[in-house]
Amino acid sequence: MISMNLNYLKVKESYLFADIRKRVEEWQKENPGKKVLRLGIGDVSQPLTPSVIKALHEAVEEQSHAETFHGYMPECGDPVLRKAIADWYRKRNIPVDPEEVFISSGASDELGDLLHLFERSLPAMIPEPAYPAYADANLMDGRKIIFPGTDIENGFQPLVPEEDLTALIYLCSPDNPTGAVCTKECLEKWIAYAIRTKSVILFDAAYESFVYEDNIPRSIYELEGAQECAIEISSLSKTAGFTGTRCGYTVIPMDLQRDGLSLNAMWVRNRTTRTNGVSYILQKGALAVFSEEGQKEVSQLHEVYRRNAQTFMQALDEAGLSYAGGKNSPYIWMKCPCGSGSWETFDILLKQAQIVATPGAGFGESGEGWIRFSMFAKEEDVEEAGRRIIRLRNEKYF
Ligand code: MLT
Repeated sequence: MISMNLNYLKVKESYLFADIRKRVEEWQKENPGKKVLRLGIGDVSQPLTPSVIKALHEAVEEQSHAETFHGYMPECGDPVLRKAIADWYRKRNIPVDPEEVFISSGASDELGDLLHLFERSLPAMIPEPAYPAYADANLMDGRKIIFPGTDIENGFQPLVPEEDLTALIYLCSPDNPTGAVCTKECLEKWIAYAIRTKSVILFDAAYESFVYEDNIPRSIYELEGAQECAIEISSLSKTAGFTGTRCGYTVIPMDLQRDGLSLNAMWVRNRTTRTNGVSYILQKGALAVFSEEGQKEVSQLHEVYRRNAQTFMQALDEAGLSYAGGKNSPYIWMKCPCGSGSWETFDILLKQAQIVATPGAGFGESGEGWIRFSMFAKEEDVEEAGRRIIRLRNEKYF
């Protein structure tokens, strides 16, 4: 008889965002014609920028002529794109070699795939609340998970555990869902812990481009010692609007060795076996993001989401609601008013104001009592959502 991976029984029947989508669809079926404002999943609303579109068109054209046609791409990524990303790090005084950069089809794919490098007996350490794919991917893999907390009083900084333990450590900054940014001091503590315990940090930098303050690290490699203990996973999804286009990159430093093995060499072996790489067309589009013009366009894109955050924070202030995030992050993490639960608040927002948000409980037990709003929505929707929240408050729904 076939044996199945029974670890799937350990995860919830449906993934958080699929569950929310289903609930909203059901509600909409019963209430047709109501305009629903989607501030739930962090999906972007602005189109790809002109230089990316131009590069994509050109690449399609190239694929239509025998002389310029490209077949299989190198599994670890187009060397031109790997170099452009390494150069982009170097411009910020972070020494990254092109061979340390791997082109991926996005951060979420990569965060799950990287688990293949580690023994199943190695526990995962996930400071909670956290992006649910971290825990789900590890549960499906049969891995034990430890959930250190976060220091709410100090802006949700992930807390280094007192006990020394070798683990696969997940850090995300700017954080999904709390919008917190790890300070230098906080990252220094984690790096020291990882080096001492021979752990490996998976640093999820998918939201790095939303850091506006100079003293906040955008890359873990800004800190000494990180090259010996951390993998950085980045994505163009939020940075350049690639959620539906799919392209990201991962940095695995040559200095990262465990058990006498190079994680970089292992990942080359993994990629050359398990993927045929990201398509030529998408990598050409991604390359345009790193051009001078592409970078200018991307910062204009960010301005829209930044304005959204300011508009929404003003509305929450006017309504007298408490929240975190929004300053160096596209997420606003609001304390549910009047002690209500996060799914209860989700229901009030949907039914009374037609706003979709993401219940904090979906990010782990410690997210209960909180709710997350995404600022990637359209500007007019964010403005309207702000007005509706003020009305809800005035009408004492919460
Ligand atoms: C989120 O809403 O948490 C993200 O959009 C999910 C993702 O990036 O996969």
